[in-house]
Amino acid sequence: MKLNKQDILKALETITAPGEGRNLAESGAVTNIVTFSDEVVVDVTISNPSLQAKKKTEVEIMKAIHDKVYEKAKITVNVKVDAPAKPKNEIKGKPIPGIQNIIAVASGKGGVGKSTVTANLGAMLAKMGFKVGILDADIYGPSIPIMYDVANERPLSVNVDGKSKMKPVENYGVKILSIGFFTKPDQAVIWRGPMAAKALNQMIFDADWGELDFLLIDLPPGTGDIHLSIMQAMPITGAVVVSTPQQVALADAKKGVAMFQQESINVPVLGMVENMAYFTPEELPDNKYYIFGQAGAKHLSEDLEVPFLGEIPLVQSIREAGDIGRPAALQTATPLEQAFETLTKHIVQEVVRRNDALPPTEAIKITTMAGCSAVKK
Ligand SMILES: Nc1ncnc2c1ncn2[C@@H]1O[C@H](COP(=O)(O)OP(=O)(O)OP(=O)(O)O)[C@@H](O)[C@H]1O
Ligand SMILES: [Mg+2]
Repeated sequence: MKLNKQDILKALETITAPGEGRNLAESGAVTNIVTFSDEVVVDVTISNPSLQAKKKTEVEIMKAIHDKVYEKAKITVNVKVDAPAKPKNEIKGKPIPGIQNIIAVASGKGGVGKSTVTANLGAMLAKMGFKVGILDADIYGPSIPIMYDVANERPLSVNVDGKSKMKPVENYGVKILSIGFFTKPDQAVIWRGPMAAKALNQMIFDADWGELDFLLIDLPPGTGDIHLSIMQAMPITGAVVVSTPQQVALADAKKGVAMFQQESINVPVLGMVENMAYFTPEELPDNKYYIFGQAGAKHLSEDLEVPFLGEIPLVQSIREAGDIGRPAALQTATPLEQAFETLTKHIVQEVVRRNDALPPTEAIKITTMAGCSAVKK
């Protein structure tokens, strides 16, 4: 039996590339195929670094070729991982040892889904095999503990090199610290910028985060001095701006992008996410209703020349998942899992691109209060 490349490619068309919605042959994941009588060598590149994903890809390729081309084919599969385990640029004077990338999730307008996006992004990154932490910096309405079903837990104190540190609470493979762990439920926390900054500083520097590929920061709504305090406290790799397609949300998202792009702040914007892009009833999954308008965030991202990272539909199960405390991204084989996987993959790609193209962000030093002006250290 003599194998040929065309038959092999055809067989690989039956395998869905992880997070692509396309098949392995079309997605460009297969980088090389060499055949020699009944032997074939397939080189494939995937972005998921977990051992499980590598094994799964290998097994699926072997099975497709055995089933569809030749059952006795001798197959070698070389799986290469193209993931941002370590960015090329070390963060200057890296203030948080062990943390590779810090991603701020912001919006401008409240209630558009920052916390939902952060929670699901964290869960999906962990599912992909990355080491992830979430810092809930929303001092006005911390919601990550509820979305991760850890609202009743409290961080323990651990001893690291003779120093007492807070140990983040963990669920679904994600480490979490939140201002919500230190306040009573239902207690409205109206903190001034400096107080909030102090509390956040403790959660960053007096915490035992360990090694992290990504630390996600769920920011409060708006573009106020809390945001500047956070950017003062740490060098943020990049920002993700969330908006719904609605005009009022878009106007605020624009301000959010502008805040990060201010010359004195200069945090790279990784891109925009369109949340509640359309409503889909559970029983009619193919129907889309553009309640808040269509593609507003996508168009804004084009106008502002920042990447468009993806769209998340408005579905009841996302809200329910948030309330139950198990992010919807943890579902398996559903369109929602797919939507969050695509979004997460785009964000990872933008982080890689950013780290290749730009020097590390420096923390900024605020010279005037209330965010009037800011200069670099
Ligand atoms: N795509 C979605 N589908 C359904 N419900 C959603 C979706 N995104 C967010 N929600 C729900 O909308 C509400 C607001 O979302 P979320 O708390 O994530 O917004 P936020 O921007 O973090 O708000 P805040 O500004 O108060 O921090 C929550 O009840 C959440 O469950
Ligand atoms: Mg929130």
